[in-house]
Amino acid sequence: MKYAEILAGGKGTRMGNTKLPKQFLNLGDQPIIIQTIEKFLMNSNFDGIIVVVSGDWINYTMDLIKKYFSSNDLKSIFLVQGGVDRSETLMSGLRFIESEFGLNEDDIVVTHDAVRPFVSQRIIEENIQAAIEFGAVDTVVPSIDTIVKSNTERNYIEDIPNRDVMFQGQTPQSFNISLIMDAYNQLTDDEKLILTDAAKIVLLSKNAGKVKLVMGEQQNFKITTSFDLRLAESLIQKGGED
Ligand code: CTP
Repeated sequence: MKYAEILAGGKGTRMGNTKLPKQFLNLGDQPIIIQTIEKFLMNSNFDGIIVVVSGDWINYTMDLIKKYFSSNDLKSIFLVQGGVDRSETLMSGLRFIESEFGLNEDDIVVTHDAVRPFVSQRIIEENIQAAIEFGAVDTVVPSIDTIVKSNTERNYIEDIPNRDVMFQGQTPQSFNISLIMDAYNQLTDDEKLILTDAAKIVLLSKNAGKVKLVMGEQQNFKITTSFDLRLAESLIQKGGED
C-alpha cells in the first residue's frame, strides 16, 4: 500500500502573530493545508492520506476538510492527532497506519509538510518510485548560497564545506514504513531529542541505510515567515493570470 502523510502539527511561531497556525491561513481563497492535501488527492497512487494535526486543532481541521472536499474524497482522508515534536507527529501517523490497516513489508509513506503547497506531481512521483526502490528518500535542492559552518558559540567560522555537495532539505521525505519505524524505535531518548529531520532517523539507526536524493524545486519552499506568505500569494496570483 502507498500512503501520503501530511504533517500539520506545528505552531508556526516564526510566522509571527497570526490568529491561526500558518497551515490554516488562506493562500488565495483556500487554506494552505487544503491546497497541500489537494496535491496528494490528485495523485491516484495513494491508498490513504493521513493528515496529522495537534489535538487542539483536530475539530477545526475536520470542519475544513468537510468544507472543501467531496464525500468521495473524504473516504481516503484520515485525521490523526500528532505528538510533541515533528518526529513524534510523523510516528503518530505511522502508528495509525499500522493499527488501522496493518503493515505489509513493502508499504511506503510519502511524508510532506502541510506548508509546502507548491509540491509538483513530478516530485511526488519520483518520491514514490525511489521509496519503493531504495526504502528511504529525501527531497533536496542544491544550495544556492555558500554554506558557512560556525563554531558552537556561533561567532566564528569553523568550516566552509564544498558547495557542490551541499543541498537544502525539502519534503517529501519518503520511506518504507517498517524501515523507518524500526529505525526510530532503535534511537535513544537523547538521539530523539536532537532530531530535526526524518531522514536523520535512518542515518542514526544501527544498520544505517542509505537515503536516496530526489531533486526538489525552488517553488516547493516551506512557508515559514510572513515574507514567504507574501511570496506564495504572488505566485498564486501569477498562476491565476496565465
Ligand atoms: N510539524 C508537525 N509537528 C510538529 C512540528 C512541525 O507536524 N510538532 C509540521 C508543521 O506543521 C509544518 C512542517 O512540520 O507543516 C514544518 O514545520 P516548521 O515550519 O519547521 O515548524 P512549525 O512548528 O510549523 O513553525 P515554527 O518552527 O516557525 O514554530
